[in-house]
Parts: sequence; C-alpha cells; structure tokens
Amino acid sequence: MKPSTGTSAGFKIGGSGLTGLTGLERPDVRSTLVRLEQAAKADKWVFVRAAPAAILALLKGRPWLEGALPYLKDAYIPISPEQGGVLYQTARLIGAQTIVEFGTSFGISAIYLAAAARENGGRFVGTEIEPNKISAARANLLSAGLGDVSEILAGDARETLRDFERPIDLLLLDGWKDLYLPVLQLLRPKLRKRSVVFADNIFTFPKALAPYVAYMRDHRNGFESMTLPLGHGLEYSVCVADLE
Ligand SMILES: C[S@@+](CC[C@H](N)C(=O)[O-])C[C@H]1O[C@@H](n2cnc3c(N)ncnc32)[C@H](O)[C@@H]1O
Repeated sequence: MKPSTGTSAGFKIGGSGLTGLTGLERPDVRSTLVRLEQAAKADKWVFVRAAPAAILALLKGRPWLEGALPYLKDAYIPISPEQGGVLYQTARLIGAQTIVEFGTSFGISAIYLAAAARENGGRFVGTEIEPNKISAARANLLSAGLGDVSEILAGDARETLRDFERPIDLLLLDGWKDLYLPVLQLLRPKLRKRSVVFADNIFTFPKALAPYVAYMRDHRNGFESMTLPLGHGLEYSVCVADLE
C-alpha cells in the first residue's frame, strides 16, 4: 500500500523527508499526523474569523491576542513537519527520557515528541489550558498509539508544572509567547545538564520573544543558544551548566 502523505512548507510526512525516523514511520503515528496536519489547514479560516476582534483590541490599545483568544480554541497553530522531525531526532540523539511541552493544542508536536519518548523508553508530558484541546490531544495521542507514554496536564502550565520533578531532558515552549520566559524560569532548576530547550515562533513574534532570546543568549544563565531557520524560527538552546 502506498504510504499516505501530508505536507507543510513542501516537506512531506511519510515522504522522503521523514522516512528513516523509525518512531514516525509507525502506521498509527503517520496516519494520525497526516490527518491532523490536514485538519490544521482550516486554521486560516479561524484567523479570518478572529481578525476583526483582534483589530478591535489593538484599536483599544489592548494586545491583539485578547480579542482573538475566544476564536483560537479551534486553531491548531502547529509546528511544521520539519520542526517535528528535528524535535524527534534531537530527542533521540540525547536519549531524552522526560520530554515536556508548554502548549500542546491538538497534539501535533506532542505526537513527534511522544514518538521519540517511546523509542527512548521515556515519557512525554504536555500542557494545555483549553478544555476542548485537552480532550482532543489525549484522543489524538491514543489514536497514534502513544497513550501509554503520554500525559497531558490540564490547566495553566505555570501551575500544572510548578511541582514537576527533575530531571527534564527536553523542553518545547510553544504556548502564548509572553509566558515562554516565566515557564522557562519555572523549569530551569529541573533541566539536566545537556538538556535541550526549543522555542517556536522566534521570527513571528520578534518583539514579544526578545526578552526570552536575550535571556537564552546570556551565557550567565547557563545556555548556548541559536535560532534555527525552521518553520517560523526555532530557538535551539542547550543547557551547558548544572542548574539545580
Ligand atoms: C501554538 S499552540 C501550540 C501548538 C502545538 N505545540 C503544536 O505544535 O501542535 C499554543 C497553545 O498553548 C496553549 N496555552 C497558552 N497558554 C497556556 C498556558 N498558560 N498553559 C497551558 N497552555 C497554554 C494554547 O491554548 C494553545 O493551544
């Protein structure tokens, strides 16, 4: 049977791009990713519906997200397949046992990360605040055959991750952008030396993410960091210090 494919930015899931990555080639994983990435194409209509409310918020001197937020509960806003491949491969490289995500949405990035966790004999912990997305992400991880290595913490990640045990081997930051730095600082003492932190949307939100990028580039904070030109800019930071 011909493998099904999905594309984003010209990169094919199940095509030449992601063959060779064992955990992503498993049929349940691949078919769930293809289905979700197809469904995520409808995001453009969510943004069209949200635009007037976002503009109104800006006109009132409020953040655009405040106006758009009620609409975004239906938006996937996922990482790209090439970002997913890099997350997967990095998690495999460092043998990540505990992988944590801030902002899981419907679970696309979660599937890449949980697939790596399973191959490593580890686990994936996602976080999500929107009730409809929490149940959908759990169902999608189950449909990808990754339910037994995954958990989604329901609620505000600043609370649900507060007492998270150490060590964390890989962290993806992809929730609302003003929270990257607070969430990173909350989890920083739990990051093991040589852990990796990824943060999405560096090019999309340069102003909102400037404090985060500046923090990760300041060597006194214990990271080596650069932006990878993948998707909308993926900050790739390696923890080089004992942060406990
Ligand atoms: C860009 S989307 C995540 C996309 C997802 N990582 C993927 O690639 O499929 C951001 C998500 O973060 C969630 N979020 C925002 N603030 C949050 C918070 N304080 N705690 C938990 N989740 C949050 C939003 O509800 C939204 O679903």
